[in-house]
Amino acid sequence: MKVLKATSGIFEDSFIKSLLSKMTIEEKIGQVNQVGTSIYGGKEEHYEKLVRNGSVGSFLSIKEIEKANKLQKVAVEETRLGIPLLFAEDVVHGFLTTFPIPLAESCTWNSELIRKTAEIAAEEAAAAGIHWTFAPMVDVSRDARWGRVAESFGEDTFLTEEFGAAKVTGFQGNLCNGQLDRNRLIACGKHFAAYSEAEAGRDYNTVDLSSYKLANVYLPPFKRLIDEGVLTIMSSFSLLNGIPATTNKKLLIDILREKLSFSGLLISDWNALQETITHGFSKDYEDAVKKAIDCQLDVDMSSLLYLNTLKELIHRQVINESSLDKAVYRLLSLKVKLGLFENPYRSSPEHYATIINKSKEYRETARQVAEESIVLLKNEELLPLKNTDKVGFTGKYLNDHNSMLDTWACKGSAQEIITVAQAVSEKKNKQYFILEDAYNDFKKDRSFKKETINLISKLDKIVVVLGEKATDSGEAKSKAILGIEQDQLEFTKAISTVNPNIIVALMNGRPMIVSTLLPYAKSLVETWHLGCEAGSAILNILEGKINPSGKLTMTFPRHEGQLPIYYNHHHTGRPYQLEKFNTTRYIDISNEPEFQFGFGLSYTNFSIDNMQVSKLKKNSWQVSIDVANLGDRDGQEVVQLYIGAKFGTYARPVKELRDYRKIKLVAKEKKTLCFQIDRDTFAYYDELFNKLVDAGEYLIMIGNSSQIEQKNMTRIEVEE
Ligand code: BGC
Repeated sequence: MKVLKATSGIFEDSFIKSLLSKMTIEEKIGQVNQVGTSIYGGKEEHYEKLVRNGSVGSFLSIKEIEKANKLQKVAVEETRLGIPLLFAEDVVHGFLTTFPIPLAESCTWNSELIRKTAEIAAEEAAAAGIHWTFAPMVDVSRDARWGRVAESFGEDTFLTEEFGAAKVTGFQGNLCNGQLDRNRLIACGKHFAAYSEAEAGRDYNTVDLSSYKLANVYLPPFKRLIDEGVLTIMSSFSLLNGIPATTNKKLLIDILREKLSFSGLLISDWNALQETITHGFSKDYEDAVKKAIDCQLDVDMSSLLYLNTLKELIHRQVINESSLDKAVYRLLSLKVKLGLFENPYRSSPEHYATIINKSKEYRETARQVAEESIVLLKNEELLPLKNTDKVGFTGKYLNDHNSMLDTWACKGSAQEIITVAQAVSEKKNKQYFILEDAYNDFKKDRSFKKETINLISKLDKIVVVLGEKATDSGEAKSKAILGIEQDQLEFTKAISTVNPNIIVALMNGRPMIVSTLLPYAKSLVETWHLGCEAGSAILNILEGKINPSGKLTMTFPRHEGQLPIYYNHHHTGRPYQLEKFNTTRYIDISNEPEFQFGFGLSYTNFSIDNMQVSKLKKNSWQVSIDVANLGDRDGQEVVQLYIGAKFGTYARPVKELRDYRKIKLVAKEKKTLCFQIDRDTFAYYDELFNKLVDAGEYLIMIGNSSQIEQKNMTRIEVEE
């Protein structure tokens, strides 16, 4: 029998309180239990039974509208209070339309596109009955061994803040009277906190770091998400300074709830509550649950510990029912924000069908994002291809549909992916030749067929599509070796002996070590895992229809021994000098990366000159700089502003990105860019996450990568 009435907005608080007052302990516990469908081997009858019993508040991984609505019907019509269910999913880089992986997207340095892809993903996923996405991941990623760098926005805290915020806006939209639009999803910032700092780049490994680093590198993106109104946050799997993040009171109460003022819902990662026992921190299930409730961990994802333990703990007064009420309140509040009490069925199969049709139109955005994600890393005159060029296309990933979908592809099907081979064959260009079997032939006996050699020798250029497969990146995909696979390297070398005009298009989910490949690749294009329009985007770049404008958001190392490597490291007392004994260096390789953060070439040349700083008033400046497109091709440039403190209360990194502009300049055009700088530009955090600004001398540096020319550096003085 139903006791609920639709309600929303200003009635939210009284509505939830009144509902809570009617709920039994069992019903409350059911709400804070999230069930991952794989736990029950995908058996639908089992889910229905759980719902009927009131043992579940939200599901993870139900992606079909019919299934979702069927379960919702059970919740609404066959339970005592008819409380609707929530459906969650990792909608990370698209739902029906697969966009580039987040690391690739971040190389666009285009927050509007990053927002837009989240908005489209939200519309498609919401149509499939999903309410809640476990994205964005805002773990600042500095170690390419960690497979989840693919899901990140790279190594820089400021960019992670910017792009994470863009995603939240795209997923959630602007709440109107506290309500989410029908086409939006609840976002979830994850993984709180410092999950990416896993020792040795090995997923799930121990995290041990100073509060200073936590405050300055890992917390700011979460703060920004919270300021942006993110409704939920997920804690990390790992141990943080000796205590699992899932049950870490300092982290979850002192920092998240108090310092960051997060009042939304906190969910554990998958089975992480149970794993606090494996970590050697919780004694047993009851201990884990008690600790988690003390940390205001609202929802238990898939360990079932809340479901199986909470009642007894409340009964024995180990846990106060009022603590459970807080968690249930937050969960119900999400359901109110989604309008589920008014309309538990936000979508229908008919609505889903209309959205499927739209996905054709969304491929246009997918292509544009993919084009802007591509980073040109090296170009010895081979690119763009000329109309007269006879070009061969080959390589392991030339026609590999799966590898472009990548980690967390939701409903994107491999068949809908345009590979490079397909994009080329659609051109019907008589000058283009697809050598699809060349790689497999070569793998068999390290040689090519005679006709292949003949053809290669007659071509002007060969595009070789190399990289790593989709399943090499993502969760639990840490790697100790980041170089190009031996077979792929040998293949490229063998081609180069017949024809040295090799352009490599690299498809991968992390920075790879390309030093062994570079001697054979006259041009190198980093194409990442680009999603459904990968092939068309890559070909548009190769042909010069689109001028590459992507810039790296993660440093490319020369060797695994340099990891972690990132541009905004600290000074040392003995700064690096290649040949100098007793400086901070390796004796066997240089400290320099292969490609630095912020780097990316274009088919045109840009100059950045004439930096002028004018002081507007105390602690307020305008910095102007001229950017000119010197070539005869239109293009886009990312102009980056870095700061560097000479000294301070704490030693600060050698440089830190603080602003950037992505601008379009037609051939020969020149523009003057203006950046505003004030005291806040120099802010950072102390160990207790209090904001600090040190008076003193700073360098302002502007360039088109993190390597800045001396002429574009100026000193300014920040006053007390
Ligand atoms: C991942 C999370 C993800 C969750 C649910 C976990 O293994 O660490 O990022 O949201 O699974 O799929």
